Amino acid sequence: MKLIRLALARLIVIGGALALLVIAWRTLRPELPAAERGRRLAEKTGCFACHGPEGTRGTVNPGRTDVSVPTFEDDVMMYAKTREEIREWIHDGSTARRRASAAWRDERENGALRMQAFGTRLTERQIDDLVAFVTAASGPKIPDSLARSGIARAEKLGCTGCHGQGGRLARRNPGSLKGYVPSWDGPDFAELVRDSTEFRQWVEKGVSRRFDRNPAARYFLNRAVLRMPAFKKHLEPADVPALWAYVTWLRHS
Ligand code: HEC
Ligand code: HEC
Repeated sequence: MKLIRLALARLIVIGGALALLVIAWRTLRPELPAAERGRRLAEKTGCFACHGPEGTRGTVNPGRTDVSVPTFEDDVMMYAKTREEIREWIHDGSTARRRASAAWRDERENGALRMQAFGTRLTERQIDDLVAFVTAASGPKIPDSLARSGIARAEKLGCTGCHGQGGRLARRNPGSLKGYVPSWDGPDFAELVRDSTEFRQWVEKGVSRRFDRNPAARYFLNRAVLRMPAFKKHLEPADVPALWAYVTWLRHS
């Protein structure tokens, strides 16, 4: 009888420990958005050597009339009209449309630097992540005008420094709970922001009331290198609704 009780007690302790582990794993598990996985992969794969840091400053490309490697920003619109074309560039090193042009083939031949085909080196899923990053960096077209003014204000206010292009990245943030700045994309956002009221609290005060009252959350918020600033005194009256419209568009696009 005593032995059985001991075995039972052990089982309960082990079961409890396992349950705690599962909870810890689920709260701490990083869930990087595709664009951030793509950014980290681009860094590892050497893309930024030619396209510049985060694809923002093309390296000089002697021999070519366009003088430098295209960036992932506005240039993409000239080179790739759609996501499928961005994918083609990365997968094949060019697009069918470009290969049909003799003038382009000469340009490519003359340049010191050439885009490679990464289709043999990377998996399809990795290429999808790179496409998500290049798309975020290129500032995609937003049909809704309130949402469009929202992202313009986010850039003006400096939000996209920490939250990345389009608010889609998750830059490293040492000391924070998950180790990165949460993006406005992806599942972390839904845990942090339940509705437009909480969104307004984050933006105006730098924290939501719910998180401010939670001692465990406060501990990690205070300990992180990057902290969400309180923007209240820098905001114009139309800002929060416009920012919210942008985030809503982003999460449904
Ligand atoms: C050795 C230099 C080099 C490297 C490394 C490189 N590229 Fe390129 N890339 C180019 C050049 C040059 C072009 C222009 C293509 C042309 O017109 O011939 C280009 C074009 C592109 C384009 C289409 C045009 C645009 O606006 O950017 C995309 C997208 C692209 N590269 C993505 C990537 C990605 C993603 C990686 C890493 C996996 C990468 N490149 C690595 C040189 C490079
Ligand atoms: C200095 C870096 C920094 C800047 C600038 C910044 N944030 Fe944040 N933001 C954070 C961090 C870090 C968090 C996570 C909470 C924390 O650790 O304080 C956060 C959290 C948030 C959240 C909670 C949900 C989520 O998934 O991101 C929202 C919403 C948000 N920020 C919006 C904005 C807006 C809008 C702006 C511009 C007006 C902005 N942030 C500017 C660092 C920043």
